[in-house]
Amino acid sequence: MKIIGGPSSQTLACRVAAQLNIVPTITHFERFPDNEQYLRITEDIGGQDVVLIQSTATDSDLVALLQLLDACESAKSVKAVIPYMGYARQDKLFKPGEAVSARAMARTVTADNLEAVYTINIHEKSVLKHFKCPAYDLDASPLIAEYIVSLGLKEPLLVAPDKGVRAMVENMARGLSLDQASFDKIRLDGATVEMKGGDLDITGRDVIIVDDMIATGGTMAEAVKILGKNGARDVYTACIHPVLSRNAVLRLANAGVKDIMATDTIEKVQSRISTAPIIVGALKK
Ligand code: R5P
Repeated sequence: MKIIGGPSSQTLACRVAAQLNIVPTITHFERFPDNEQYLRITEDIGGQDVVLIQSTATDSDLVALLQLLDACESAKSVKAVIPYMGYARQDKLFKPGEAVSARAMARTVTADNLEAVYTINIHEKSVLKHFKCPAYDLDASPLIAEYIVSLGLKEPLLVAPDKGVRAMVENMARGLSLDQASFDKIRLDGATVEMKGGDLDITGRDVIIVDDMIATGGTMAEAVKILGKNGARDVYTACIHPVLSRNAVLRLANAGVKDIMATDTIEKVQSRISTAPIIVGALKK
């Protein structure tokens, strides 16, 4: 098996390869003078089973994934791991005439030898049906739960900032016999939210707010402020996908967050929890 990392998922590809005792294949990528991307897989992969790992947090990342798929034309089989799939939040029509962007993205990820696609905690699982090959979503939340436990926090309480992640947070808390609570969120615009339901007695406890992603940080900043006012000792944030767009890191620090914990579906300094074990588990199945 060959493990081929794209530009956005080099570290994760190396971690997956290491767990499988495979040396990762070198992919060469650069830009032409007109800024178009160039990509070349530097080993002969003809007749081989290959695994591509490339998140698509940016438009350029998606182009690189399409180039990787094309460069694998001579491979016997290809599995594409897209740890973070961008555009997955527009999974339906909100207004007439809109593009269902998640569907558009899924439809582009195709090749004759593409056997399977794996995503991690995709925003909406219904998007998986738009891929032209079997597609599976892996759950990284148990890895975050294990990490939280390893921190030895004081009477930790897990909090879901909205109903979209309530079930995930309930599962995490149940598995670890931790307490959990949740907010109701009303989104006012792309970067501003209002939270309801934060009347919790959390005096002196450490609280960890868990979401599938932190984008502008608006959701987390609001929740951190409420929990701080309610007497929490330290408030942490944890997410699967650290999109951390615009000034999200500064907003969270300003709101009083103690730490931002995240997985390596998007490679940032906050990505201390590796999703390699669940990818390896899925590949071995
Ligand atoms: C929304 O449904 C998601 O679960 C996240 O809560 C949201 O995408 C976070 O966005 P932001 O950080 O911009 O508030």
